[in-house]
Parts: sequence; structure tokens; C-alpha cells
Amino acid sequence: MAETLKSVRGMNDLLPPESAKWHYFENRCRELFSRYGYQEVRTPILESTELFSRGIGEATDIVEKEMFTFPDKSERSMTMRPEGTASCVRAYIQHSMHRKEPVTRWFYSGPMFRYERMQTGRYRQFYQIGVEAYGVAEATVEAEQIAMLHELYSSVGITNLEVLINSVGNSEDRGRYRDALVGYITPFKDELCGDCQRRLETNPLRILDCKVKTCKARMNDAPSILNSLGEESTKHFGEAQSALTSMGVPFTVDARMVRGLDYYTGTVFEIVASTKSLGTQSTIVAGGRYDGLVESLGGPSVPAVGFALGVERAILSLTGDSEEYRSAPDVFIVAHGEGTSPIKLALGAELRGAGLYVELEHRVTSMKSQFKRADKLGSHFVVVIGEAEVESGVVKLKNMQQRSEEEVRLAEVQRVLSERCGE
Ligand code: HAM
Repeated sequence: MAETLKSVRGMNDLLPPESAKWHYFENRCRELFSRYGYQEVRTPILESTELFSRGIGEATDIVEKEMFTFPDKSERSMTMRPEGTASCVRAYIQHSMHRKEPVTRWFYSGPMFRYERMQTGRYRQFYQIGVEAYGVAEATVEAEQIAMLHELYSSVGITNLEVLINSVGNSEDRGRYRDALVGYITPFKDELCGDCQRRLETNPLRILDCKVKTCKARMNDAPSILNSLGEESTKHFGEAQSALTSMGVPFTVDARMVRGLDYYTGTVFEIVASTKSLGTQSTIVAGGRYDGLVESLGGPSVPAVGFALGVERAILSLTGDSEEYRSAPDVFIVAHGEGTSPIKLALGAELRGAGLYVELEHRVTSMKSQFKRADKLGSHFVVVIGEAEVESGVVKLKNMQQRSEEEVRLAEVQRVLSERCGE
């Protein structure tokens, strides 16, 4: 027997009826983000490796160990995008968006790739839906993005959430904080894990994020970044908080949150869900301001802020069976007997042409089994065509919810069903 092939580890197939849940959530995002003025952008999955090493930061976990990178046929280093922000910035610069409009608001949706250790809610191919706003320095825009997320999750019934916010300041503030942190850690640096000892040299802020128990315990009393913020950053962070309060969005300031990507400046935020099905991967959204990235990737000096949400994690947080998200047929055409097939096909085409969702059976099966299938799919109506109906030109129309039945002339079926289904 031929060996069976499996999908690549950490990369999953999405099958019905689960895909219906995804459609529901994705449509909700599209519809809501459009109402806040965000328009869709699509960038390629493959980009030059340099975009991410320069954009995300050489000393981040993503760039150091998680990228799917390989040489193309011309020996250029290519990377499957691990996130969407760097690609959006590249596109923003490449298409001179700042000359076309003062404010650009984009959203994107698609697969991202990271070579991570897998667990529930953490995969090597995963989907993000993200939002980026360019050209607005005011803190109200990040607050509005958080409010939009709050609306999104409430509207799909994910309510056990916490919005965490912090500020990582500008580069001066971070320089000050870096010194304070190194000063705090150095006396016990030998007790840290190997990774953190290295991070102390390359990127000490990342030590705050380490999951190793001893490092975590040692960092409990670390100085707060908020004490290193200058006047400007403190004011901006205060404005973000006031705007959230004005919009009625509850939040918690978490001074330990530093985020795993190097491009952040000022406000950063995460939304954490306390859903059991997520296990330890409870961060369903993450984002923040990155005012320096457009310029550092060769563009003009343009402020920017955005977030990305993990679609798998959102789906894991949705209660309800996948079947509930699948739409049921408006009508199932049950047909059996000599001469019924052409009538079934013609009626199917006519009803679909009128915009109805129509199911019918192509295989030769009994009426009973067709009724069973119609029932299983939750069909609203069933049209029954047998030999007698072919003769008379009158078919039976059953309302499956009310369990009632009437006779309708074949020529009238489309009009009657369109009326009933539109009610
Ligand atoms: P991130 O924190 O790396 O940020 O990812 C954002 C979200 O994507 C996470 O909170 C999580 O929900 C989901 N996610 C990340 N990695 C995985 C994985 N391996 N498996 C499943 N889900 C995952 C960014 O990517 C930034 N680009 C966000 C941003 C946009 N900041 C500004 N603009």
C-alpha cells in the first residue's frame, strides 16, 4: 500500500463545519473594521529576509530562531512572513502612501509562519487579522483600535477578556530603562537562564518576558518602565488611558508587558482571554505604536500603530458548536422516480438563480434517505417530486419547521419559496 502523506507539523487543515466558524468570525472583522474606516490590503507571503531582520529586530526570538527562511533559485534569502506589520510598512513606503493621503488605515488577513514549539493555540502556520494606521500621532487612535476590538469580541460573545496596556516609551526612555534594568539584574545575572544571560547583552527588556521559573521570580521586583518614561511619553500614555475611559473600555496597566518585537514605541497592548480551551496561549490580540519603523525601513517619518489578532485563538474562544455557524439550506429538493431528474435539475437552477440555497441529491437513493439528509442539514423547506408530480405538474412543498405540507404548481414554486424565505 502506498505510504500516506500528512500535513507539515504545526500546519493544519481547516475543514467544514469548522470553516463556517472561521467565516463567521472573519466576516465580523471585515464588516466591523470597515465601519472604522480600515480598508483591506494584501501583501505577499514571501518577502526578502532583510525586511524582517531589519523590521522586527535581529535580537528578537522571531528573527533569531522562528523564521522559515530559505534561499531562492538565485540564492537570495527569502522568508515566509512571520507577521504582517513589516510587510505593510514595506508596501506603505513602496507605494508612497504618505503622498497620496495624510492618514492610511489598512487591515489584512492571512497565514503567518513561525517555527515555534507547538501546543494548543500555538502553531507553525497560523492566521492573523491585523490593522495598521499610519499618519496619526495622537493617542486616541490606539484607544479607538482597542475599543474596536472590545466591540468585536463582545459582538461574537467572547466576554471574559482583559485589556492590558503599557508604554515602552521612546528610544531615550528605553535607553534609561535599559540602564535601570541592567543595573538591577547584573548582581544576580549568573542565576539567570542561558538565554537571559545572552539577552542581558543584546536585549535586556526581553528578560521580562522569560518563562523560566527562576528568571520570572527574579524579575518580580524589577523596576517599572513607567518610572523611566519622559514627560512626552507619560503625557501620551495618559491620553491613551483617558480616551479608553471616554469610550467605556475597561483596561489594566501592566508595567511588565514589553512585547516580543523591537519596533514598538509608546503604547503597547494585549488582550488576554480566560478561556480554558486556550490553555497557556491566552493572548488573543497584541499590538502597539511603532512610530520609528517607517523611517527605519527607508520611508518618511510617519507615526504608526496597529495590532494583530490570532484567528485560531479567537475560534478556540468562541463557544457554540461549529454546526451552529453553518447556514442551513432554504430548500432541499427530494426527487425519486422515472422522469424526475430533469425537473429536479431545472427547479434547482431556477431556485438558485433566485438567490436561494438549494440542496439536492445527485445519487440514486430512496425518498426516505433524501428526507433524512434534508432533516440533518436543517433544511427549511422540502420540495417533493415523484412520478405523480411529474404527471400533474403540481409538487408537494413541506415546511420542515412547522411540519406542514401544501401543494404548489411547479411554475409557482420559485415565487412561493422566494416569498417564504424572504420573510
Ligand atoms: P504578535 O504578538 O507576534 O504581534 O502576534 C499577535 C497575535 O498573533 C498573538 O497575540 C496571537 O494571538 C497570534 N499568534 C502569534 N503567534 C502565534 C502562533 N504561533 N500560533 C497561533 N497564534 C499566534 C504581531 O505579530 C504584530 N505584528 C502585531 C502588530 C500589528 N503590532 C502592530 N501592528
